[in-house]
Amino acid sequence: MAFNKIWYTLALGLLLPFSYAHTDFFTSIGHMTDLINTEKDLVVSLKDYIKAEESKLEQIKKWAEKLDQLTDTATKDPEGFLGHPVNAFKLMKRLNTEWGELESLVLKDMSDGFISNMTIQRQFFPNDEDQTGAAKALLRLQDTYNLDTDTLSRGNLPGVKHKSFLTAEDCFELGKIAYTEADYYHTELWMEQALKQLDEGEVSSADKVYILDYLSYAVYQQGDLSKAMMLTRRLLELDPEHQRANGNMKYFEYIMAKEKDANKSSTDSEDQLEKETEVKKKDYLPERRKYEMLCRGEGLKMTPRRQKRLFCRYYDGNRNPRYILGPVKQEDEWDKPRIVRFLDIISDEEIETVKELAKPRLSRATVHDPETGKLTTAHYRVSKSAWLSGYESPVVSRINTRIQDLTGLDVSTAEELQVANYGVGGQYEPHFDFARANEPDAFKELGTGNRIATWLFYMSDVSAGGATVFPEVGASVWPKKGTAVFWYNLFPSGEGDYSTRHAACPVLVGNKWVSNKWLHERGQEFRRPCTLSELE
Ligand code: OGA
Ligand code: FE2
Repeated sequence: MAFNKIWYTLALGLLLPFSYAHTDFFTSIGHMTDLINTEKDLVVSLKDYIKAEESKLEQIKKWAEKLDQLTDTATKDPEGFLGHPVNAFKLMKRLNTEWGELESLVLKDMSDGFISNMTIQRQFFPNDEDQTGAAKALLRLQDTYNLDTDTLSRGNLPGVKHKSFLTAEDCFELGKIAYTEADYYHTELWMEQALKQLDEGEVSSADKVYILDYLSYAVYQQGDLSKAMMLTRRLLELDPEHQRANGNMKYFEYIMAKEKDANKSSTDSEDQLEKETEVKKKDYLPERRKYEMLCRGEGLKMTPRRQKRLFCRYYDGNRNPRYILGPVKQEDEWDKPRIVRFLDIISDEEIETVKELAKPRLSRATVHDPETGKLTTAHYRVSKSAWLSGYESPVVSRINTRIQDLTGLDVSTAEELQVANYGVGGQYEPHFDFARANEPDAFKELGTGNRIATWLFYMSDVSAGGATVFPEVGASVWPKKGTAVFWYNLFPSGEGDYSTRHAACPVLVGNKWVSNKWLHERGQEFRRPCTLSELE
């Protein structure tokens, strides 16, 4: 342990300049695959260490056996034994040199290779923040996709390839993370799950007393006093001397008695207050509710009548010479706002190239802080992204031209191609792509006006979750590799179309790659002339 510490301090001193490379693993699967390889390397060097230690022990064992026989014979008849001059000589030699050599062998440290490998790799390890982030992602998924704790713990998720389950210890850990976030709802769920798995006989180092301690507190925090008392009683059965539990029990009894009194004389104004907070809560919920429902594939607001007017067609980019002989497949996804999907619009090879170009540059996506106007990271946008310019690769340039040909819009005023990767739990909560009237400075430095339209390529399928949803209108668009969707964010008048508010649902299983192009107003004057009214 102490040895490790010394190495660690040394490593920190030596290697600190490199450690800035560490950034939010859990947001992107790309960086997590590196960790898997790191772990594989470590296992290899751990096995080498075990082998070295085993062969050392083997040598020692042989020596011990040889000496065991020898000393046996020698002690039975010491004088006869030493009467042989060779035996006398060998006894001198053994004691003078061979035992010393054996001592060195016993003291020899075989762990050098493994420890130095650990030291090198450790700088790339996730930290506490990553662990908490990954745990919070799990809790977020649980809410969005209405997953019950037991299902999640047993790993019964749709579309998973490698089933994996949580131990009671893992559940306890998740509960503790929720607890430190003052999220007592999830604390209760996960502590209860840990307890359940222990009650079912799972062998674990997790301790029921600790679990009950957290659980009763979480239950108490959520106002269920009698359940909190029941749990504390259970704790005291296991550990009658538990100081906090004994204290809590007295406190609960006191509160219980006080509440009974208060109930008798509760006033109308309190009721009023309660109702008001309830209304406030409900006011906040709708968009979040709609968003989460759409993510689960519920609450689509399409009528059969409107559905009938959605078509698919071959599209030649309005007689664009590049597409007349080979038009592309186009599908209406939604009518209002109009969202169209292009099929087979980016090839697997192009996708691989774009991903390879982006990978080394992926960093945590940022958003504009409305107060400071600066770019920051935010919990509502969890993904990694990178920007690719048309100058750096013929593939990117070809993709830009394709977008120009098929939208009829000038891409020279557009932003560079943004590539985004969402890991498990990665999401982008409801937002507008355009800048609202009250944020005139948002795209000022670009000097190309507002974001008139969005083009979004899906560069992977997603095993579960990860839809793009439009909560205002009840639309969801599911990722499908090789396709792209397109919509206008602004009316021809230049007004923002609020019905385009959209979100990227959290990825439940698998990972999601997209790339998007935000087209701007400048350059479109003759391509999409403006009008005076937003209705035209
Ligand atoms: C965006 C966005 C949607 C998605 O990056 O602005 O809305 O499905 N993405 O990734
Ligand atoms: Fe967006």
